Amino acid sequence: MTNQSIGLNTKEDNLKSLCPKISTQGQQLTQEWIEKYSAAKSVFYQVAELVKTEVEQWTTTTGKQPTYGQIRRQLLTHDLVKEFEKMRTGPAGLAFNAARADINADLDYQQKIKEWENTAKERLNLNPELEMPLYVTQPNFHWCPYVATNDWEEQFLGCVWDMGTSIMGQSSPTIRHYSVGSGRLSRMVNYLLERFPNFKPRRILDMGCSAGGSTIAMAMEFPQAEIHGIDVSSSQLRCGHALSVALDLPIYYHQMDASHTTFAEGSF
Ligand SMILES: C[S@@+](CC[C@H](N)C(=O)[O-])C[C@H]1O[C@@H](n2cnc3c(N)ncnc32)[C@H](O)[C@@H]1O
Repeated sequence: MTNQSIGLNTKEDNLKSLCPKISTQGQQLTQEWIEKYSAAKSVFYQVAELVKTEVEQWTTTTGKQPTYGQIRRQLLTHDLVKEFEKMRTGPAGLAFNAARADINADLDYQQKIKEWENTAKERLNLNPELEMPLYVTQPNFHWCPYVATNDWEEQFLGCVWDMGTSIMGQSSPTIRHYSVGSGRLSRMVNYLLERFPNFKPRRILDMGCSAGGSTIAMAMEFPQAEIHGIDVSSSQLRCGHALSVALDLPIYYHQMDASHTTFAEGSF
């Protein structure tokens, strides 16, 4: 199965056309991010060796594999790892600031996103009363200065987040797209199709759908299915909804906690 067979190229082109134009400031910030991150990559292999040694030592001493938390705490006793953490996380905000700079500079883009967000509003079910789990709001996810939040004031937060993570992932100052265009999610759909070629889902629930990365990939591949995406973050859902409207994909987005959804029993 190739990416072509599930229409990834078309999807990628479509999604690129939805992004803001690259601004001079956005390009500079991305370049700065790439340079700083490359420096972190240069010590990555030393850290990887250290991980191997620590895991082996732990396993020999205790007779058990360490958990992620145990090995992480152990690794952070090393100066090399502390330094690597600083090099890796310090510049991360640059990628999000690059996305933000592009969005701020492109008024046509802002207008389009607002229009899409306000179209087919019946497919965007937000719940301002929803309590955000602490494990979502407390950590500094991807070191994004605009963490996944329920922030109603910030119009383009979800798009900054989604495009910023994509800039981080691809490290190119001159390419922008939303996460679905990265191929990561299409790989998940490809995996399904390879193993279950006749799979024709009728209803799909995407839990933790964020800004619709996986949801959009599934909607493109399974047009016959009714698709619902849930997430706790309104900003992400608003971005996902806008992109889905722009791509003419009838996806339903709900602000809901996956640990207690309000769908009727047996809905999916
Ligand atoms: C790694 S992202 C998912 C990426 C997304 N599926 C995509 O393809 O782009 C994880 C998402 O899960 C959401 N999340 C975490 N805990 C949740 C919960 N209890 N209920 C719903 N969503 C949750 C977060 O807000 C975040 O957007």
